[in-house]
Amino acid sequence: MFSEMNALPFDSLLGLTKLFNEDNRAKKIDLGVGVFRDKENRTPILHAVKTAEQRLFEKQTTKVYTPPEGAPGFADAIAKLLLGEAHPSLKEVRYTAVQSVGGSGAVRLGGELIKRAGAEAITIGAPTWANHQPLLTAAGHKIKMIPYYDAERREILFGEFLSAIGELGPKDALLLHGPCHNPTGADLSREQIDAVLDCAEQRGFLIFIDAAYHGFAQGLDEDAYLPREAARRLPEVVVSYSCSKNFGLYRERTGALIVIGENAEKAAALKTHLLNLARGNYSMPPAHGAEIVAEILSSPDLAKMWRDELAAMREAIKENRRVLVRASAEMQMGDLLSYIESQNGMFSMLPVSESQVLAMREKHGIYMAGNGRINLCGVNEGNVAHLCEALRDAIGK
Ligand code: LMR
Repeated sequence: MFSEMNALPFDSLLGLTKLFNEDNRAKKIDLGVGVFRDKENRTPILHAVKTAEQRLFEKQTTKVYTPPEGAPGFADAIAKLLLGEAHPSLKEVRYTAVQSVGGSGAVRLGGELIKRAGAEAITIGAPTWANHQPLLTAAGHKIKMIPYYDAERREILFGEFLSAIGELGPKDALLLHGPCHNPTGADLSREQIDAVLDCAEQRGFLIFIDAAYHGFAQGLDEDAYLPREAARRLPEVVVSYSCSKNFGLYRERTGALIVIGENAEKAAALKTHLLNLARGNYSMPPAHGAEIVAEILSSPDLAKMWRDELAAMREAIKENRRVLVRASAEMQMGDLLSYIESQNGMFSMLPVSESQVLAMREKHGIYMAGNGRINLCGVNEGNVAHLCEALRDAIGK
């Protein structure tokens, strides 16, 4: 059976961590996988999470299966958090929300739902997160890549993006990043979002939002403009949601899929499809992470603690952005990296080619994704000079 199956290369993003760990150089810098790290390079468990875990430990009496839609209260709490309690789609109950196995699992589940509905293709702006294509092709989709960001000019190619989506029709879905575009850090402005939604209204294509960094750009409410407006204006929207970064629950694989339907009856019908797709895949999701999130969001003291911790993570990354931009200016690189300060979330792209990325790794021990994406969490006062020197060396400035 398996004689023709040869080994595949290691996943390019996840493989970076392995390569980094195997590097013995003291000055190595990890700018790879999207995980929050503090000044000491640790990814601590949030206090709100630890406290919720302690409370759950006391309360929990059984390990029987969770319901197929996930830990009680979790997915609805996420829908409220993202869309806002007073959102018309929640009031009209024209939405459904189910727990997924992480944000990746939500992308896959959403992709399968859209495929089952008869979609012909999913369109994505380039560049995008390295796992979008594998997840969505595994769900049976053709992927159409259209221009989104020019890494050399360091700007969103909005004119080209808008004219490409102007070609889409009712059998298409357009994948948009929620806040904190991965890998570019370059988010659409509110005016640009409005223009995209105008186009979706006119052309009838489906908006599929991948929200993996909610709260990492400006704040929980500010970051939700796209899903809130899309769900208010359009009859149908799909949103995948990850709690990996904003709750720091990476390994607990905690996410949700929110689907807005035309009306309450349609939304209820869509839920049956989601549960059916999940049953045919993993049956029901793991409970632990979602129970933690539900406990936090339903306990005012923990919810406040969590919001404060999320704000601190957000501010720490913004500070790292400033540290990098300031250091590069001080090291006579002019405004080469100045665009990084105004971008959002964990990632930005350095102005480097793939071979320069490799040179920075081999010569200087600096690990980043092949497209030049850096995780700003890995930048700090202690290593920024080494990073800038390596960059200058690689690009010959
Ligand atoms: C990333 O983009 O680095 C993270 O989302 C981790 C992953 O699964 O790729």
